[in-house]
Amino acid sequence: MKDRLSTTKEVQVKDMQSYYQFQAKIYDATRWTFLYGRNAILKKIPFERDAPLQILEVGCGTGTNLIKLAQMFPNATILGLDVSGDMLKVAETKLAPYKNRVTLIEKPYEKGTEYNGRFDVILFSYALTMINPQWTELVEQAPNDLKDKGVVAVVDFHDANFEFYRGFMRNNHVKLNGHILPVLEKSFDTKLSKVKPGFLNVWQYMLYVGGKKK
Ligand SMILES: C[S@@+](CC[C@H](N)C(=O)[O-])C[C@H]1O[C@@H](n2cnc3c(N)ncnc32)[C@H](O)[C@@H]1O
Repeated sequence: MKDRLSTTKEVQVKDMQSYYQFQAKIYDATRWTFLYGRNAILKKIPFERDAPLQILEVGCGTGTNLIKLAQMFPNATILGLDVSGDMLKVAETKLAPYKNRVTLIEKPYEKGTEYNGRFDVILFSYALTMINPQWTELVEQAPNDLKDKGVVAVVDFHDANFEFYRGFMRNNHVKLNGHILPVLEKSFDTKLSKVKPGFLNVWQYMLYVGGKKK
């Protein structure tokens, strides 16, 4: 019999796959209106343009960040993981010009030794608030997969001023409760931690950059 944890993970993955089956078609046309801070977090990545970086984006979706990362860091090798094949199909088309150094894989990011110390940067962009309840496991795993001077970069929803908005987001698989930032601050050596207002301050989003704890 499967343990409860693996069943929970499978349910989360299946939920995402069915949610994004339709959403993948309208994702790029709609999300720029409320996924604030995605350009800002990329600018906070503290490496030289020419560095031969190894970068991972967890939950890379349609590849909006991957393209920008490929352009910002022309010598970087980039891996995008996502559980939604529909989102990755969109990403694959957009990333065709970079396919010699951007790889997309349809699978979740999980605990394990597969990437052991490989990455200079691990990016979570509007992913952790959707990976419930196992987002804490992913935050615990990230330091193991970073090089000594590597960083985790996170942009995501933080909290909301109104319960209706929290409920609305919950129906869209997003947990919004100010719960992520304190865990990041405990898990990493914080270099940047900011909360900013979203549209009319109905919600807030956060930007976080942290290094491995010594
Ligand atoms: C809101 S989208 C963000 C996409 C992209 N990072 C961006 O900023 O536009 C969340 C993405 O996380 C992916 N995702 C959800 N659960 C995941 C998991 N357990 N492992 C990897 N990706 C996951 C979803 O399929 C979706 O593409």
